[in-house]
Parts: sequence; structure tokens; C-alpha cells
Amino acid sequence: MRVVSGIQPTGNLHLGNYLGAIRNWVKMQDDIAASGEEGSECLFFLADLHAISMPHDPAELKAGTLEMVAALVACGIDPDKSVLFNQAQVPAHAELQWLLTGTARMGWLNRMTQFKDKSGKNREGASLALFSYPVLQAADVLLYQATHVPVGDDQKQHLELARDIAQKFNNDFCEDDAPVFTLPEPYIPPQAARIMSLRDGSAKMSKSDPSEMSRINLSDDADTIMKKVKKAKSDADALPSEAGGLEGRPEALNLVTIYAAITGKSVEAVLGQFGGEGFGKFKPALGEVLVETLSPISARFRELKEDRESLDAILARGAAKARERGARTLDNTYKALGLVRG
Ligand code: TYM
Repeated sequence: MRVVSGIQPTGNLHLGNYLGAIRNWVKMQDDIAASGEEGSECLFFLADLHAISMPHDPAELKAGTLEMVAALVACGIDPDKSVLFNQAQVPAHAELQWLLTGTARMGWLNRMTQFKDKSGKNREGASLALFSYPVLQAADVLLYQATHVPVGDDQKQHLELARDIAQKFNNDFCEDDAPVFTLPEPYIPPQAARIMSLRDGSAKMSKSDPSEMSRINLSDDADTIMKKVKKAKSDADALPSEAGGLEGRPEALNLVTIYAAITGKSVEAVLGQFGGEGFGKFKPALGEVLVETLSPISARFRELKEDRESLDAILARGAAKARERGARTLDNTYKALGLVRG
């Protein structure tokens, strides 16, 4: 089992990343370590090369990259158990992307909803990197022969594209019994809820939302978390006692989903407990469970982010391992394409 996943180091780690992805990375890492299975491994990386696809401030990207390492370690990613690195120190990601752009089809990329969302009305002014981004994402996982890619629901389409690229490349350039690439499985655990904005139950919680009140950051202190939950958009009705009663109430559904995800309960169980209560009672309870789970993480994060030397060392060690893990596949890709390298 080869687990590979990434996160963009832009801005703070927020509750959506944590409940949708990172918490699950930690679980997969610990399960693999406990199984002692030979050859099984997790690789987690900061997708810094992806971060330049949108207008960005270089100083912020640099600071954000180091902060994100601190945040991941604070959440439980252990650099002794997992390979933790950033793409910029492993040139094979960019190389493999180029090699795969010969296989990826324009029509496939045209269908990517994230490009449509992020470019908005200004398609002509979007960067080429934003358009070709999913090919880099395919390279990220194919380079390491990933079998499982834990992601939130919003990344599923990109992962399907990675499978299409791998399949076409294997068909076009490889013998049937010697494919260069493994087809990766998107792994979206059932409890990996899609967490929505606290201000709008129909938009996902995101670091690109201009409103700080729309998300809970893992670095928020207890007061900030309580305030954001208190101000979160909700409605005037009491909570229903069954999940069907949340239909047409996206904000209520989101808050209940967050409560369920953070406590590991089902939505039904949460409604069993709070059905009939209004938000005046539910919100403080939600704030409390959030603070309880997040405060040890944010305390560790604040400590780690000051230790620049350790953060640099973690990334350097991870990158050396990643370069080694990806070397053979990169080489095989050049060879399969007929590119002469001496
Ligand atoms: P990114 O940085 O936007 O998000 C990192 C992970 O967090 C999940 N996520 C969410 N899950 C639930 N609710 C939300 N509101 C929410 N917001 C984010 C994402 O699904 C993701 O799993 N393109 C990727 C990074 C990437 C990558 C890869 C991932 C680059 N290469 C290769 C997997 C494999 C991205 O921008 O994620």
C-alpha cells in the first residue's frame, strides 16, 4: 500500500482540511506503522508548485510553507513514520508533469470544475499553470506508484483524471505486462465530511474565502473559535430529530456535520442528542467540542512554527527520501517515451 497526498501551503490549515483530509492522513499513517507491512508507506507533501498557479506573494508562500509543515506535524504527521516534503525540493514532480502533458487531452482538462471555479469569468486571464494544474497533480501521485490517495470530496475529479492519464500512458507506451504507472484510487473515507463555509452553507470552507469568519483555522485560539461558531450562519428553527429534517437547511446541516465529524458520531446520533434544541444551545456545545479537539493541536503548532531549523531539517530529510522513491518511475517514463538520456 502506497499512500500519497498533498495540500497547498497557502494560508492557514482550516477545519475543512483537517476533517476532510489531514485527520485521515494521520490515521492511515498510524495504521500502516502498526501493521508493520513491508513496503507500505505514506508520502505527504506540500503542494507549493501548485500554489503558484494563482496570483501569490512569494514571501507569504515561503512563510506559509514552513507554517504548514508545523501544522501537519502538530496534527500528528510524524516525519519518522511518513515521508513529509515539499514539491519544490523534488524536481521529478515538475519533470513528470511535462512528460505527462503529451498524454493528457485538452478536452479532459476543459472539464475540470476547479479550473472553472477558480478562473471565474476571467478565463483568458487565468494562468496556464491553473489550467494544467491537474496534470501536475497526476504526476504527484503517479511518480510514487500511489495505490491510495486520501482526499476530500472536492479533489475526486482530479484523481479520476490522474487515472485516465495513467491508463492512456500505459496503453500507448507500455507492454501489457509492464505498465509504467499504477492506477491510483481516490480514497474518500465515509466520515470525511465536506465542510462548508460558516457564512454560506453552499460554499466549501476554503482558505481563499476573503472572510476570516467563514472558517475555523487550526491556529485559532479558544475565544476566536467560540466567537466564530456563535456568529456562524444558522436559522431560527430548532434542530430536527432525524437527518431528513435538515434538508433545505444547508447551514444547519453543516454545523451538525462538523459536530458529528469532530466527535466521531453519526449525524443521526447528534440529532438524537440535540433534536428539539435551538442553536442557542447547540452552538456553545459545538464550540466546546471544537476547542477541546483543536487546542492541543494549536498549542503544539505555535511552538513548532518558531523552530525554523527543525522545520527545514524535516523538509530536507523528506525530500531526500522522496527523490529516491520517485527515481525509478521517472526513469521508466523517459524510457517509455523514447527519450535518450545517455
Ligand atoms: P487543498 O490544499 O485545497 O486541500 C487539502 C485537502 O483538504 C481537503 N479539503 C476539504 N475537505 C472537506 N471540506 C473542505 N471544505 C475542504 N477543503 C479542502 C481537500 O480535498 C484536500 O484533500 N489539489 C490539492 C492538493 C494536491 C493533491 C495532490 C492532493 C496537489 N497534488 C495529489 C492529493 C494528491 C488541493 O489544492 O488541496
